[in-house]
Amino acid sequence: MANKKFIVVCTVLFSIATVSAFVEELDDTFKHTRKPDEIWLIGFYAPWCTYCKQLDPVWYEIGAELKNIGSPVNVGKVDADIHTSFAKEFRVTDYPAIKLLKDDLKYTYRGPRTKDGILEFADRVSGPLVRSLPSQQVFQNVMSRHDVLFVYFGGPSDLKEKYISVAKEMIVHTYFFSAARNILPKTVTLEEYPAVAVFKDGTYFLYDEQQDGDLTSWINRERFLNYLPIDSYTLYAMGDTDKLVVLAVVEEKTPTKESIRYKTMVKRVASEYKDFYSKEFQFGHMEGNEYINGLIMEEVSMPFIIVLNLSNDGYFLPPNKVETKDQLLKFIDGVLKGRIKIIFTKAPLLGIFLVFVFGFVGSTFCYVLYKTCHMVGYDSRDEVHTYDHAP
Ligand SMILES: *[C@@H]1O[C@H](CO)[C@@H](O)[C@H](O)[C@H]1NC(C)=O
Repeated sequence: MANKKFIVVCTVLFSIATVSAFVEELDDTFKHTRKPDEIWLIGFYAPWCTYCKQLDPVWYEIGAELKNIGSPVNVGKVDADIHTSFAKEFRVTDYPAIKLLKDDLKYTYRGPRTKDGILEFADRVSGPLVRSLPSQQVFQNVMSRHDVLFVYFGGPSDLKEKYISVAKEMIVHTYFFSAARNILPKTVTLEEYPAVAVFKDGTYFLYDEQQDGDLTSWINRERFLNYLPIDSYTLYAMGDTDKLVVLAVVEEKTPTKESIRYKTMVKRVASEYKDFYSKEFQFGHMEGNEYINGLIMEEVSMPFIIVLNLSNDGYFLPPNKVETKDQLLKFIDGVLKGRIKIIFTKAPLLGIFLVFVFGFVGSTFCYVLYKTCHMVGYDSRDEVHTYDHAP
């Protein structure tokens, strides 16, 4: 019996030791010892933070996995309570914070804290900024794996330079591809080269500088499907698209007939009126009303439609129940033309997100809300920033 216990303890210790060997505990000396071409995935934690403890085993698995597949990404962790200047340099505002350092750029991970989510992020951000599509077959293959796909077509050009520089900043959100013109699928016709296209919603759109403004904001607007299931993470990621979000809030577990009808209605409007509204609006549905209720501090009976303005923490509710496509169109139009009154949330929309995701409840709620709001308000657009080499 005792023997068995001993073996168990040893095995556990051994696996902890082997796994933790792939995660380096970093400190303030990192700045001086890191070689410029090293890529680092760094988790910032604080000893008192419960969510950091939950992330810990995942973090070690990530370290082991990246080592296993021979990834160039090094994995580290930093006690941000002790190494405050380290954390400050990476603009860490909440814990656990996940950052990837590549060249002189730091990228912030904002998705769910799962092994797969973080590994995907590390792979995307650490890899080439623009990935080339060498054949039609690869193109088809990649297309089947991505809902939204940005592709540059053509040889070297000013547009390509711009595309690369946008990718440098936006790789944190999406992949960037390039292809020669003979790789084009038969269904696509380009009149001019070079060109940037986005493939999504079963079709494609071309970037037009005259009409669409600068490339960065176009990519920002186009990087989501026109209609999609939206959860709090998606909403958070949509924060800087500058679009209004039209949301059908529907029954979660057992979708009622009405919920299905609401979803269908929003989806139809999204696709049939794409040309009118896709510049200003993003469409989707959210399962469950917990998040939205927390946001607007009231209970609206389900299902319902709400429009969120993520840029000014405002929202719009239809004055009367929206039951038909025409009523929905009238409501959307009213929002756009200023006929529907905007209501402002008491706390920033995306501030609530943090509280929601990290699951704080009860009396700490207000305090944490207050704190995170400040942090988010200060830093919310800060997906990527440069690494300051100066001592
Ligand atoms: C959404 O917020 C932005 C930023 O304040 C504002 O410019 C825009 O007019 C708002 N849109 C609507 C429809 O209220």
